[in-house]
This record gives sequence, C-alpha cells and structure tokens, in this order.
Amino acid sequence: MQEKLSQIRAKGIKEIDEASSSADLNSIRLEYFGKKGLITQLMRGLGTLSPEERPVVGKLVNELRKELEETWEKKNQAILHLEAEAKLEKERIDVELPGRKPRRGNQHPLSAIIQEITEVFLGMGFSVAEGPEIEEDYYNFEALNIPPEHPAREMHDSLYITDKTLLRTHTSPVQIRTMEELYPNPVRIIAPGRVYRRDAQDATHSPMFHQIEGLVVDVGITFSDLKGVLTEFIKKIFGQDRKVRFRPSFFPFTEPSAEVDVSCLCQGSGCRVCKNTGWLEILGSGSVHPNVLRYAKYDPEVYSGFAFGMGVERITMLRYGISDIRHFYENDARFLEQFR
Ligand code: DAH
Repeated sequence: MQEKLSQIRAKGIKEIDEASSSADLNSIRLEYFGKKGLITQLMRGLGTLSPEERPVVGKLVNELRKELEETWEKKNQAILHLEAEAKLEKERIDVELPGRKPRRGNQHPLSAIIQEITEVFLGMGFSVAEGPEIEEDYYNFEALNIPPEHPAREMHDSLYITDKTLLRTHTSPVQIRTMEELYPNPVRIIAPGRVYRRDAQDATHSPMFHQIEGLVVDVGITFSDLKGVLTEFIKKIFGQDRKVRFRPSFFPFTEPSAEVDVSCLCQGSGCRVCKNTGWLEILGSGSVHPNVLRYAKYDPEVYSGFAFGMGVERITMLRYGISDIRHFYENDARFLEQFR
C-alpha cells in the first residue's frame, strides 16, 4: 500500500509540474480528485480495510491528498498569472499609433462659385432673394413681358406641370416676386437657384442647371449703373486684367438689352473655348422693360432699373476649363476633389 501511494504521489507531482495551461491543470484535477479520481478512489477504499489498518492508511492518504492539492493550487496560481499576462500583452493597445485620417469632403464647385459670386454682390450692397422652382406661368412668362404665343416661349423648352404651372425655365420670375414684395421700396437683389429646360443631356446641356439673376430698381438708375456693376463683377470673378464687352441683344423683359462678354485667356490668338473670337459670352442683361415695372406696380415714369442673368455651370466651366457639364451631376469624387 505504501508503495502504491508513493507511485501516485510521484506521478501526480510530475504531471502537475509539467502542466503548461489551465486546461492541463483541469484534467489533472479530474484525474486525481474527480468522482472517479485516484485519490477519491483511495478514500473510498478505506472502508474495506481492517479497523487496525484504517487509521494508519487513512492518515497517509489524507497527507497525500493534502500535498497534491497544495502543489496543484500553487501551480494553478502560477499558470493563471502567466495566462493573464499573456492576455494583456495580446490585447495591448498602442496609444501612440497614428490614427487613420477620415476622408474629408469639400464644397461642390457649383456651390463654391455661387457663394463666391454672391459675396461679390453682397459687397456691392445687394441682398439674396429666392423664389419657387415650381412656378406659375404668370411669373415665368407673362409678367416678364412674354405673353402667350410669344416666340420667346418656344426658346425656353418648358416643362409644364399643369396648364398654369411649370418648372421655372429661368430665375427671372424672382424679379417679379421680389418687386411685389418690396414695392414701393428700392430693389437690389441677386437670386441664385435651379432652373429646368426640356433639353437632352449632352456636353453643354442639362435639363436642370443653375442661374443667378440680378435686379436693381430705384429712382435714377441708368444703363451706366448696369455697365459699372457688371464690369466690376466680371473683373472680380475672372481677373482684373480681363476686358469686358457689351453687345446689343434682345430679351422681352429688358429694353435696351445687352449680352456681356469677357475676354478669353487666349487673347484672340485662337482657341477652342472662344472658337477663335477672343470673347466668351457670360451673361444677359438690360434696362428693365417699362412693362415689367408696370406688372409689379412700379411707375416707369418714376422708377428705372437694370437686370441680368447668368448660367452658373457655364461660368464654372469657363473658369476651370471643364469641357462637359455632366461632370457636375455625376458625384464622381475624382472630379469633385479637384476643387478642394
Ligand atoms: N432669363 C434669361 C435666360 O434665361 C437670362 C437673362 C437675360 C436674365 C437678360 C436677365 C436679363 O435678367 O436681363 O436666358
């Protein structure tokens, strides 16, 4: 019996010593102290011994049990400690590792130009006005001196919603709405916004695009005010060295009317952008037609004014040398990022 106990002892100490994980230790615990464990069996076996042997062997078995338990527990502490350290090391966070930069967006080039142009006019004492994109025929055409059957209506390729409402084809209806609102006060506004035309998409056309309208109405406004304001505006946007040219034109809501050109960067030496003319057309303008003033109750004998309208896409394309209007609407980050 003594022989047997010392074999179990030697085996147990060796196995505990060689254990290298808490899983190993767990199976050792079962092997010795589990329901069918070696020590458990020895304890049970005590009952079959004679009354003389029982206390002697019992004492030895108890001592062995105690020794193995203590050895096991010591090893267990050591392994738990090692495993905790290993876990901490594995989950270590390097707080000095540089972070990943989030990708930063930027303003859309059209919004940027609208803002830039708006700031130029704010600097000249203008305010910003707005009007609806779903507009009444009356504001889009009639009050702008474009009666039914007028040929100018055809030029506009309108998108009608009902007989009397359409998607506005230009920002000019904001002229009438603003005058109605401000009458009889002087008017000095610009109105940026979306406009819609029944055009097929191509490199220079889009069924939706942006315009900026301008309107000044007061006592004593003349055509030279128009020339002064627009020349100042164009030089601020395109550069002080650019030349500005006013060409006679026609619009139903202005009289006289002028189209305004800025000199091309090629200075007429020949380029595709200006088609070798040396000039780029950038806006329409004119003195407000007396009929338009009358529609908004301003007496043309007392008040006069000037108006202008420009295409935002066109100006942006000229400014940055963009050759296809569709780039603006495709949301391709490779295009948009260039305007950071
Ligand atoms: N509304 C015109 C268009 O869409 C542009 C325009 C021309 C606006 C002359 C004006 C103006 O205010 O005076 O083609």
